[in-house]
Amino acid sequence: SITPVILAGGSGTRLWPLSRKSYPKQFVPLVSDQTLFQASALRMTGGAASDVQFLAPMVLTNSDFRFIVTEQLAGAGIDPGAILIEPDGRNTGPAILAAALHAQASDPDAILLVSPSDHVIPDAAAFHSAIVAGLEAVAQGHLVTFGITPDRPETGYGYLELASEPAGTTPVTLKRFVEKPDATRATEMLAAGNFLWNAGIFLFRATDIIAAFEIHAPDLLPPVSTAVAQAQVDLGFLRLAPEPWSKTADISIDYAVMEKASNLSVVPFSAGWSDLGGWDAVWREGRRDVTGVGLSGAATAIDCEDSLLRSESERLELVGIGLKNVMAIAMNDAVLVADMSRAQDVKKAVDALKAKK
Ligand code: GDD
Ligand code: MG
Repeated sequence: SITPVILAGGSGTRLWPLSRKSYPKQFVPLVSDQTLFQASALRMTGGAASDVQFLAPMVLTNSDFRFIVTEQLAGAGIDPGAILIEPDGRNTGPAILAAALHAQASDPDAILLVSPSDHVIPDAAAFHSAIVAGLEAVAQGHLVTFGITPDRPETGYGYLELASEPAGTTPVTLKRFVEKPDATRATEMLAAGNFLWNAGIFLFRATDIIAAFEIHAPDLLPPVSTAVAQAQVDLGFLRLAPEPWSKTADISIDYAVMEKASNLSVVPFSAGWSDLGGWDAVWREGRRDVTGVGLSGAATAIDCEDSLLRSESERLELVGIGLKNVMAIAMNDAVLVADMSRAQDVKKAVDALKAKK
């Protein structure tokens, strides 16, 4: 059986004004009635009907989001395992190491499926098959990634260089992991054809990832181990000890371990995946009419094409006329109007507003 580990500590600024620091995108229903966090947890629950058996999910988050986490898990009918509270955000490296150390303490053979909480994977059955395929490589001590066929030279993802041609969902050994390349390298890798995108989901034995941290990021081990060993139980949450935690570096698992490790495998995954990194992705993944218009809430489109109009406010009617490739998001206290091609620049809006305060 597998222990799901859900990372729910990110802040999602590119989905402003819906995603806020105090209530980020993973906790908002973006493309369905469930929030992305709920959908991620449900995707890794149960297993009676499928070929994977999941234990109760472990969740890693921070103090601000802890009650949102418990409320949303209860709302989805999920009994959580441990909910670890990071005293502050140190990125995914220390968070995943803490999860592995905590899991290993009670089960030396624990297998972890680490997942972000802000992705869309519509086909849960295909996802389960990919996990089953990955277990083969896990049994050989590999750190397993899941690979998406790239369709653009995206610079915000990790790239997986395959050592051989993939055949179905059999795990393929990786030659190299390249995190967030610059535009030139991304274009080269896309053209080369033997690269997949890293989906940001990982499968490994707790012991193997701890060993990888020992080899490739040894400085993280002492403070994170102490923070886990001295964690305090608080209203059902497990609070990592702040003093040792403050001594850990701020680094993602991709840079800390994946770029350096040689025992990596990838399971190709082609059943649909989106990381909803911006409003353009929300528009693409959500419901759209034949003219490519996505509407939500009190929004009306007249002669519009390929646009997203969302009113998240009960008080605001949002009307678009003759729009093309435009996104308009209305909240009670903020409205964003932008060209669809500028979706990645929304974080600049957040920076600009911060600078004004
Ligand atoms: N608990 C916790 N604590 N969660 C965190 C923290 C933290 O300090 N930082 C980030 N997260 C969560 C985010 O909420 C998200 O669900 C997940 O961890 C991944 O973090 P991102 O910050 O979104 O990573 P990224 O998108 O830049 O890159 C990763 O994902 C890409 C695919 O979406 C990498 O793994 C890339 O290689 C990958 O291609
Ligand atoms: Mg991300």
